[in-house]
Amino acid sequence: MVKYRRDYTAPTHYIDEIDLRIELGEEKAVVVAKSHVRINPDIKKIDQIVLNGEEQNLQYIKIDDQQLISSQYEPGEKTLTLKNIPDRFTLEIRTEIKPQENTSLMGLYKSNDLFCTKCESEGFRKITYFLDRPDVLAKYTVTIIADKKLYPVLLSNGNLVASGELESNLHWVKWEDPFRKPSYLFAMVAGDLDYIEDYFITMSGRKIQLRIFCDKNYQDHCKFAMTSLKKAMKWDEEKYGREYDLYLFMIAAVRDFNSGATENKGLNIFNSKYIFANPKMATDQDYENISRIVAHEYFHNWTGNRITCRDWFQLSLKEGLTVFREQDFSEDTSSLTTKRIDEVITLRDSQFLEHPVRPDSCIEIRNLYTAAVYEKGAEVIRMMRTILGKDAFCRGMDLYFNRFDGQAVTCDDFVRAMEDASGVDLTQFKLWYSQASTPELHVTSKYNPSKKQYTLIVKQNEKSPLHMPLSIALLTSNNSEIASILNITQAEQEFTFENIAEKPVPSLLRDFSAPVKLFYAYDDKELAFLMENDKNPFARFEAGQRYMAKILLQMISKLELPEDFILVFKQILFDNKADKALIAKMISLPSETYLADFMTQVNVEGIHEAREFMHKELAEKLKEEFEQVYKSNLANDAAERSLKNACLGYLTVQQAALQFKNANNMTDQYAALGLLGSEALESFYKQWKHEPLVIDKWFSAWAALGEIKKLLKHPDFNIKNPNRVRALLQVFATANPAVFHARSGEGYRLLADQILILDKINPNVAANLVGAFAKWKRFDRERQVIMKEQLERIFNEPGLSKNVYELVSEALCV
Ligand code: PHE
Ligand code: ZN
Repeated sequence: MVKYRRDYTAPTHYIDEIDLRIELGEEKAVVVAKSHVRINPDIKKIDQIVLNGEEQNLQYIKIDDQQLISSQYEPGEKTLTLKNIPDRFTLEIRTEIKPQENTSLMGLYKSNDLFCTKCESEGFRKITYFLDRPDVLAKYTVTIIADKKLYPVLLSNGNLVASGELESNLHWVKWEDPFRKPSYLFAMVAGDLDYIEDYFITMSGRKIQLRIFCDKNYQDHCKFAMTSLKKAMKWDEEKYGREYDLYLFMIAAVRDFNSGATENKGLNIFNSKYIFANPKMATDQDYENISRIVAHEYFHNWTGNRITCRDWFQLSLKEGLTVFREQDFSEDTSSLTTKRIDEVITLRDSQFLEHPVRPDSCIEIRNLYTAAVYEKGAEVIRMMRTILGKDAFCRGMDLYFNRFDGQAVTCDDFVRAMEDASGVDLTQFKLWYSQASTPELHVTSKYNPSKKQYTLIVKQNEKSPLHMPLSIALLTSNNSEIASILNITQAEQEFTFENIAEKPVPSLLRDFSAPVKLFYAYDDKELAFLMENDKNPFARFEAGQRYMAKILLQMISKLELPEDFILVFKQILFDNKADKALIAKMISLPSETYLADFMTQVNVEGIHEAREFMHKELAEKLKEEFEQVYKSNLANDAAERSLKNACLGYLTVQQAALQFKNANNMTDQYAALGLLGSEALESFYKQWKHEPLVIDKWFSAWAALGEIKKLLKHPDFNIKNPNRVRALLQVFATANPAVFHARSGEGYRLLADQILILDKINPNVAANLVGAFAKWKRFDRERQVIMKEQLERIFNEPGLSKNVYELVSEALCV
């Protein structure tokens, strides 16, 4: 069952071209796939081919137009073996599938009245029998046939080359994608959709048509996504010299989707949550996500599509790199100084079991789509840029694009391009791809006043030391700083700085220059000093987090908030030189999950009480101050709104109710809703009951209050819709640890029940929820027993999906 990276072998055959004909009916779809197959000349001769295929009803197989008889092939549970085949042949396979019954939302499925696909990673095998692996690249021609009235819009990858009408109200279209691609990038959509249209002129003067397809009457909601797309296209030309390569770029927004979006060539398919936006219904955070994800999928056209992964263990080749490009884009195009903070919070909040950026094994490929591959993978690319410098990194990217265009390659290939372009040896650095846990850096310092020497001693706890850049600055009382990037390569290193007139405060790991846990014995004064004076916004934020975590952890034994801290906090609140978004982040208390990470055994109640106490104390002691800042922020932009709403959290319920009533945008309305009770929730529901994306927010607001049972029975709860499930259950499992981890075990049992129900419907979505149990060993005995019981109950369920099985067994370490 387990697949290993080291077992990779090249495909026995290549398929250079495939012609798909898909006829969509109300009960079934008929798929005829004609392909050109040839033996891989580089491997031992073989006279059979094993195709992947699942959940299909096989009608016939023809080789070079000859229909096979049953002795010439062997259908397996998830394969189809053709025997005694020639070295080169045309293959024609006809199968029938049932998109209407496909609740896994992988392959071809129906979402409301819309047919759409999700093939990454291994969904294409549910559409037809094929070599469904990323290193088999083919040219696709796709003909779609469907009812003219019900499905006037028929889309697939590439260019529309022909269309026509047939009898009995059918019509057809033919799409041709001139670029060879792996099967996971195949896409099609059929339905009665509206669209908005725009165009983009590329740097070489080509005119690209841009279209975003959406539900009827939602065109207005797509405008922001369109603007984001054009920005991303421009930025990729300017920063990476990458131009779009087809004449048409399409996005289709769908309501039922397992992930955020997919980068199918020329036809990205999106969860409508990441396309639809209008100020009344979408928060600033939603806008931010849309701009990032639209850019992310667009950037995949080069990092993912033109150059793809040889096998799925190399997933970070495209994902780590594309997340990095997306971050680079948002840092370049935003006025906010808080982007880096958000990235680091995302990385740290991920609750998955840790595996390497380039995993060595897995049972279900879908489980490789984790923060390790995505976010940590992006950190690895970022470190390379820091180590090589921006120019050499740029040359490395150019070399990578030139050398591997049109190929399926590995993470090693990427690193080699970086080495070749820069002359830097990255052998030691590559350990980042195989090392699993989060490394610790332990830093100490000494100051010698007579010699005016300051020394930093950096130790890492790794068996084999990692190569990383450590960005630091030495800050002195007159507000000057000496900044530098230390090149860490050994288990223990000393860095001495000369001519340091007074003992400085070290600002360490600025901008989170490496994905490590950094330890340094700061005292409160030093942390307060960094919070107020560090020029690096991330470092200011980080000092605040450390300071607050330190106090909160002390408060678990004694509920008392130090006066000194309140003073610093007040300073920050009124720092009018700082970006308002930064202040908003700095006055927000660290999450319970973040705090739990500091404890070997998580004290659920202790953390919760300490955090509540601190919040209450600040609200009381700085009442007027919060009011003043709240009132002086007119909320003209996202930064002001974030500060205003961070203050609102410390103000009275009456104030929140007033804001809720008067809000003219979702950011303000939703921030207030989170502070109010059932009455506000009811009126919110009445106002928005016809907008599924807003009702998702409503479910999340309930979930954050810990109200689950009632909501699971609500007529609007739909277990088949991934957004709804995540809105309720994912939020329940993460947003309110005190409720989820209730000593009674009720939260655990409830989640396990839902995982078991969901596993039969949509294993991907079920598996996403298992993470909530992953760290069960970090809790007290009593809780451990119940969590383990629940994991075992899931584990013992007959017919469990590979997705859930793998994560549960990993958590149980069986
Ligand atoms: N490849 C998509 C992206 O990151 C997302 C995705 C996740 C697709 C999981 C399939 C499965 O852009
Ligand atoms: Zn991606």
